[in-house]
Amino acid sequence: MLVVVHENYDAMSRKGAEVIASRIRRKPNLVLGLATGSTPVGVYKELISLHRNEGLDFSKVVTFNLDEYVGLPPEHDQSYHYFMKDNLFKDININPSNVHVPQGMFGDVKISSFETDPKIVQFCEWYEDEMKKYGGIDIQVLGIGGNGHIAFNEPGSSIGSRTRIKTLTEKTVADNARFFKTANDVPRYAITMGVGTIMEAKELLLLANGAGKADAIKAAVEGPVTAMCPASALQLHRKAIILTDKPAATKLSAEFVTYG
Ligand code: PGA
Repeated sequence: MLVVVHENYDAMSRKGAEVIASRIRRKPNLVLGLATGSTPVGVYKELISLHRNEGLDFSKVVTFNLDEYVGLPPEHDQSYHYFMKDNLFKDININPSNVHVPQGMFGDVKISSFETDPKIVQFCEWYEDEMKKYGGIDIQVLGIGGNGHIAFNEPGSSIGSRTRIKTLTEKTVADNARFFKTANDVPRYAITMGVGTIMEAKELLLLANGAGKADAIKAAVEGPVTAMCPASALQLHRKAIILTDKPAATKLSAEFVTYG
């Protein structure tokens, strides 16, 4: 794992965008895994400015997002479909037919049969097949939850897990409540790539900023590989880059860290 600590959020974001841009220049039809949340917003802003000012071309890039809330329609301003359009897609020359964000609406499905509902199961299998059809994800952008989750793979998620429906933990619901009117409005379920799905990406780019991520980063980088910290699975990946700002890196032992 390469851990690079940056002076601040903006420097981290510039580096993240630079890594992605270099991969797109090398392979114009890059298969790019994308994440939502507040962390990657700066990277997306930088990618937009690279598109506008340096002609970074997304016309052949294929994207797959990590996750989507269950029960929010794509036009809901807290859905991840909306987030991606608003924070990236509307400002770059991506071909809409190359964009993949997991479906979040499945009609009337009983919570008790979520995990076996054929519509959900079939969608999850299709999503995995679609990634394979494009040759797999070349580079996957990741955030990290304060509890060590990646995508919506909460602590306890199997390291071999695949795309499926997951229940959000109370911590994640509380963390995400800032985006909703009340905590009650936060969806309780999400469709998410599994840890095993994420680990098949050829390269991983995990971003973390702020002191609230320091414990999770310490556990992910220096802790044991354990399902209780899904991000610790990155230790088993051949090509994982972790970019942080200084506050997120305060708990790391100095020998693991490079300064960017
Ligand atoms: P954040 O979320 O970027 O909003 O902190 C990260 C995550 O929960 O994966």
